[in-house]
Amino acid sequence: MAGAFIEAKDLRKTYHVGKIEVEALRGISFEVRKGEFVSVVGPSGSGKSTLFYLLGGLTRADGGSVVLDGDDLAALSDAARTRMRKCKIGFVFQKFNLLPTLDARSNILIALEISGNGRGDPAYFDRITELLGLTKRLAHRPSELSGGEQQRVALARALINKPAVVLADEPTGNLDSKNSEIVLSMLRRSNQELGQTVLMITHNPEAAKYGDRIIHMRDGQIVNPEEDPQWVGR
Ligand SMILES: Nc1ncnc2c1ncn2[C@@H]1O[C@H](COP(=O)(O)OP(=O)(O)O)[C@@H](O)[C@H]1O
Ligand SMILES: [Mg+2]
Repeated sequence: MAGAFIEAKDLRKTYHVGKIEVEALRGISFEVRKGEFVSVVGPSGSGKSTLFYLLGGLTRADGGSVVLDGDDLAALSDAARTRMRKCKIGFVFQKFNLLPTLDARSNILIALEISGNGRGDPAYFDRITELLGLTKRLAHRPSELSGGEQQRVALARALINKPAVVLADEPTGNLDSKNSEIVLSMLRRSNQELGQTVLMITHNPEAAKYGDRIIHMRDGQIVNPEEDPQWVGR
């Protein structure tokens, strides 16, 4: 598709646990255009996180391909794939993944260092930390922050490089409704204002509505909404 920014083609992934094989992805194909905000929903175990890892180049697929901004992830060297991850993708995880010994400010700024973007854009740092309500929390370590605050720090870290794409796996999975609203609004704002492409995985129908479009997964495949039991009757 012309203008496809993320292109997943027939993605397959099987996990081997002892003698048992778990087919987590059984042929997933879809495209996301530049600047789209797409939600991916599906019950637990449907393969959403596996898809997230493959799209972000964090795991290799057993079959199929991911093309991100014109680059086939499998064709890139490890170094080139790592560089793409650091510069082009902002990751948000359900469990925040902050560094416990660093304060909030350093947890955000470390993303600039890792990507080689130096000090970045200080005005942008001030803006996103303010929008995320973190201005008075920047000297706090993760253990001195609530779960919602930790996720807001993690989101600031994901956004600070102004990545072309933001990949979020259940970013509101551990949050109350107030914090969920802050995180989701920020994702939508950065999508609208910076034209960032956002792919957000969630099992919360309310959160999914923040996207322009919803992809439904079940048993490692994409299904029609009518086949998604969570969606029937909505
Ligand atoms: N590292 C792993 N080793 C073995 N099985 C896994 C692993 N990760 C996920 N699975 C299995 O793959 C399937 C899809 O998991 P996952 O992608 O985490 O789904 P979701 O995020 O939708 O809950 C599940 O059956 C899960 O148990
Ligand atoms: Mg998951």
